[in-house]
Amino acid sequence: MAQSSVKKEYLFKILVIGELGAGKTSIIKRYVHQYFSQHYRATIGVDFALKIINWDENTVIRVQLWDIAGQERFGNMTRVYYKEAVGCILVFDVTRPASFEAVQKWKLDLDTKVQLPNGSRIPCVLLGNKCDQAREGFFLTHEQMDAYCKEKGFIGWFETSAKDNIHIDESATFLLGKVLENAMNDTTLTEVDGDRIAIDPTTDYDTDKGGCKC
Ligand code: GTP
Ligand code: MG
Repeated sequence: MAQSSVKKEYLFKILVIGELGAGKTSIIKRYVHQYFSQHYRATIGVDFALKIINWDENTVIRVQLWDIAGQERFGNMTRVYYKEAVGCILVFDVTRPASFEAVQKWKLDLDTKVQLPNGSRIPCVLLGNKCDQAREGFFLTHEQMDAYCKEKGFIGWFETSAKDNIHIDESATFLLGKVLENAMNDTTLTEVDGDRIAIDPTTDYDTDKGGCKC
């Protein structure tokens, strides 16, 4: 039957959160555009990026990345930005211990403001970024990081470098695998146009940004 040639297309809203200057925008630029700049320009509010992934021969994933400014932890908008997200990347800077201390505040903010349709926490991966640089005071062992992630409810963690392109693709693929697994088990998903799947068919995505107008 022609059934096997039908591609399934998913649209996933993925949040990228963490302290000011941790490297969220740089990670997204590396992941989506294979580009890195030393120049720091703080994100204001939220930025967006889209990456289209041919996951396998039957599955296309449109990853809509929401790059939330670090300063938003002190604002009131995160609840709005988090709405209907299905995955999260939480970033800290291994050269700045204070950014690791803020991880649990970000995770709490996330878990109290957004859940999957079935009420469970959205999968979140923890990234210790700037691993190309010397760590200043951040000396958790791999075992301690594993225990920390288990305790705080992260699906896993990676040391990354947006600068040297270390574990950027791997960590995103790891998260997307989990998000896809959740989506395939989620009965609230609705097929659109026969072969396209939307997380929420009532969401009106802007076609200019590459999203679907469902
Ligand atoms: P806000 O938008 O303010 O929340 O910050 P952000 O988390 O988006 O940080 P951004 O990506 O703008 O990076 C901050 C600074 O860190 C920039 O100067 C980047 O060049 C630098 N940077 C980001 N990632 C890396 C990395 O992996 N290694 C090194 N050495 N520098 C990095
Ligand atoms: Mg930024």
